[in-house]
Amino acid sequence: MISPLATKTAQMIDLAAGRSSTPPRTRLKSVPAPNLKDKSRRFAWRIVEATLYRWSPAAFHGWRCFLLRLFGATVGRGAHPYPSARIWAPWNLRLGDVSSLGPRVNCYSVGSITVEDHVTVSQGAYLCAATHNFRDPAFPLVVGEILIETGAWVAAEAFVGPGVRVGSRAVVGARSVVTKDVPDGTVVAGNPARQIGSR
Ligand SMILES: CC(C)(COP(=O)(O)OP(=O)(O)OC[C@H]1O[C@@H](n2cnc3c(N)ncnc32)[C@H](O)[C@@H]1OP(=O)(O)O)[C@@H](O)C(=O)NCCC(=O)NCCS
Repeated sequence: MISPLATKTAQMIDLAAGRSSTPPRTRLKSVPAPNLKDKSRRFAWRIVEATLYRWSPAAFHGWRCFLLRLFGATVGRGAHPYPSARIWAPWNLRLGDVSSLGPRVNCYSVGSITVEDHVTVSQGAYLCAATHNFRDPAFPLVVGEILIETGAWVAAEAFVGPGVRVGSRAVVGARSVVTKDVPDGTVVAGNPARQIGSR
């Protein structure tokens, strides 16, 4: 019989190696309730996002990168955050070089969202880095880091759930629902997303 310790150790080795045998739920962690500082900067960002960010001309990517950096995001060179892309908390966003957050992309960055270099996140995709522990009567918020690795493409209106890693050069098809890691170079599609090819 395999001991729980051996199982846990195997899962940790898998995680360290970037493999996906661990269900996403185990990668979620609790967060403290927002304090006054959190609420104040959310309030300030919502005003800036609704005005200076959203109403900027589409071509003004540099301006929006500047605003995101001002609010704590790490943004690489040549990034393309579109004006209608929504970012819940820029301080939890890392957007790599020449990566784009297309029109109507939603980054629910209650937990951290890392979009590495040369990544395309297409129209209306939803990157959801938080959920609730619905088994706990208090229904607490839990977060799970989303990592989208170099060269990946998250196509239109796909949903990427908390704790998910989309591997390097992987493709997530339009309107797919991804709740488990996507291995490097894999093409997945559907709900739930399944491998339909490779790149
Ligand atoms: C994922 C995608 C890239 C796959 O393209 P492809 O490799 O040429 O795949 P195919 O068209 O040959 O389809 C292969 C199979 O996967 C299915 N499939 C493809 N995309 C799918 C999707 N998004 N959801 C569900 N199933 C899908 C096809 O129906 C087909 O199924 P079958 O083998 O039973 O006939 C493409 O379908 C897609 O989603 N493109 C994104 C479009 C988009 O977001 N555009 C915005 C651009 S900015």
